[in-house]
Amino acid sequence: MWTYHRSCTSQARLDGKVVVITGANTGIGKENAKDFYRRGARVVLTCRNVEKAKEAVEDIKNNLYYDLQRKTNIEVKKMLYIMIKMITGSKQDSKDKLGEFAIYSLDLSSLRSVKECAKKILADESAIHILINNAGIMMCEHEKTKDGFELQLQTNHIGHFLLTLLLLPKIQSSAPGCRIINVSSICHLLGNIYFDDINLDRSYSPMKAYAQSKLANILFTKELAHRLKEAGIDGINVYSLHPGVIKTELSRHYSKTIIPGARFIFRNIMGPFIKNPIQGAQTTIHCAVDDKVANETGLYYVECRVTTPQWRARDDKIAKDLWDHTCRLLHLEPEENLSTFLQTVARQLTE
Ligand SMILES: NC(=O)c1ccc[n+]([C@@H]2O[C@H](COP(=O)([O-])OP(=O)(O)OC[C@H]3O[C@@H](n4cnc5c(N)ncnc54)[C@H](OP(=O)(O)O)[C@@H]3O)[C@@H](O)[C@H]2O)c1
Repeated sequence: MWTYHRSCTSQARLDGKVVVITGANTGIGKENAKDFYRRGARVVLTCRNVEKAKEAVEDIKNNLYYDLQRKTNIEVKKMLYIMIKMITGSKQDSKDKLGEFAIYSLDLSSLRSVKECAKKILADESAIHILINNAGIMMCEHEKTKDGFELQLQTNHIGHFLLTLLLLPKIQSSAPGCRIINVSSICHLLGNIYFDDINLDRSYSPMKAYAQSKLANILFTKELAHRLKEAGIDGINVYSLHPGVIKTELSRHYSKTIIPGARFIFRNIMGPFIKNPIQGAQTTIHCAVDDKVANETGLYYVECRVTTPQWRARDDKIAKDLWDHTCRLLHLEPEENLSTFLQTVARQLTE
């Protein structure tokens, strides 16, 4: 019922394009996968639970057009056209050609899993045109990963940082027209980067950790766009965004970390007033396919429009410091030259 939301209006096709999405088995990632599949892309789902990913693919294929009417920018004419095709079973023309799916195992809370996933994708995929760093967790209890990082920081920021750098050479070889999208959140407004206590060991709170990780998504976007430009690497644009407040599985930890019953309240009482996953997927789709943003990079979007994030997210020094800090957390010596740095990162795959 969300009263105000903007939809991606682009009808761009993605035939021959490869789109990699993290956390695509549910929520807005799954809606992104469905949309890109409809546009003809090879959609690569990277998920920590392969069985859930397979179920998501089946569900997408079985309900490909069922929910289109919930998307506000679908014209009645197109709906009728699709329905007639479904009823008559007539063959799709190239305009409606569907894409294909591939599934890879990826647990962002394990650096080993990130490296293994990247290795497989680099070996098996011929190109990557769009990378969507979508997976995320929100407001869980204080937990450390096997790699020793706070869980939200590693899942939402460090894992995606490493994955992106490992996949970047393949993206570079697929350019021009490539895009990297980092799904952040409006909660970044509450965020700071605690360089002296990045894992929040001294002062953890579930929201503080989430907000830090989501601020990190925007700073990473800004710094990556800057470094690509400095390195003279054209044809790869980077975007960050807040997708809206959406009824998804993201609220799974609320009842433990906010108050008992918080998840129920969020889903059932607030539910009618927040976005559904199709609406929540629109800004990501906009950044991934719309021609209007083809000449923009390093920016932050809300409701399919460029928006100004909080001041820390615009600060060049914080962005650089976070990049260097994250490199050190990954035992990578930060280098100014992006091209040689990427070679250093790639060596992590053989270690
Ligand atoms: N929903 C909102 O209101 C909202 C608002 C602002 C921003 N966002 C952002 O939107 C993005 C998508 O969230 P959503 O709302 O669609 O939530 P969701 O329904 O919970 O989906 C999150 C996805 O991330 C995956 N994931 C979680 N931990 C992972 C890990 N360690 N390794 C790999 N994948 C992992 C989940 O996999 P499993 O199914 O296996 O858990 C799931 O596929 C997130 O980055 C979130 O921060 C959401």
